[in-house]
Amino acid sequence: MKKIIAFSGKGGVGKTTALVLLLKYLIEIKKDQDILVIDSDPDANIADVINEEVKFKDTIGGKMKDLKEKIQKRQLPLDMPKNQIIEGDVYRCLIEMDSFDLLEMGRTEGEGCYCFINSVLKNVIDTLSKNYDITLLDSPAGLEHFARKTGRDVTDLVIVTDPSKMGIHTMKRILEITKELELKFENIWILGNRFPENVRDILEKEVEEFKDENIHLLGFISNDDDISRINLTGGNLLEALSDNPAYQQAKDIFAKIL
Ligand SMILES: Nc1ncnc2c1ncn2[C@@H]1O[C@H](COP(=O)(O)OP(=O)(O)O)[C@@H](O)[C@H]1O
Ligand SMILES: [Mg+2]
Repeated sequence: MKKIIAFSGKGGVGKTTALVLLLKYLIEIKKDQDILVIDSDPDANIADVINEEVKFKDTIGGKMKDLKEKIQKRQLPLDMPKNQIIEGDVYRCLIEMDSFDLLEMGRTEGEGCYCFINSVLKNVIDTLSKNYDITLLDSPAGLEHFARKTGRDVTDLVIVTDPSKMGIHTMKRILEITKELELKFENIWILGNRFPENVRDILEKEVEEFKDENIHLLGFISNDDDISRINLTGGNLLEALSDNPAYQQAKDIFAKIL
């Protein structure tokens, strides 16, 4: 069954880290699955943590900037529908890695209203994800993409929080918004990242209070020195840590989603 797993939560709580740990696990269990990773965080940093360099012009944001300029300067071929151009751009942005494809959104917000581009883009991405067994989506810290209902096809929403009041506050806001907008996910998972053992009960209680059968506590990942080191030294999170305790925890908890 096709899955689209989105990671959300306050900035800096560990969304990208958790996503890459899941990706590492998916690659390790090798099920011949086609995997697509969409980095829609404007501070595009999946490429950073896997030690890949992606130029702005090779991101969706870069391509859309070009397109906007061409529209303004009336430089577009008249015989080609715009949505076809956008579609082509999206496919050209796909970066083929050994075990997965990566799509970097880059910064897509521009001045003026480009609702047309945004809606075409959304459809293209919906269509694109149909070609893959699993799509992992790294969402921006803000909640505006939920407001635009781009979460429509997401099967599993993972909300990451760190042990901070603000992290939990954002988690609750996301849960409220998904209710208000009646966004339907098969499952909503709460992931406590960098939680010391003696405060885990606090998050457990918070999740219980929601009393919603779709909302589950996914589990906890500890603060980990290797992850810090890899981040600081610019290593590749996918290549490191096979026997690392945080990765082991990540494998145990992500098995619940798959
Ligand atoms: N479990 C962890 N142990 C140690 N450092 C972590 C852990 N999770 C995340 N970090 C670090 O915290 C910072 C923010 O994590 P990141 O995944 O980029 O957050 P987000 O994507 O939510 O903004 C990074 O420097 C990352 O290496
Ligand atoms: Mg991130």
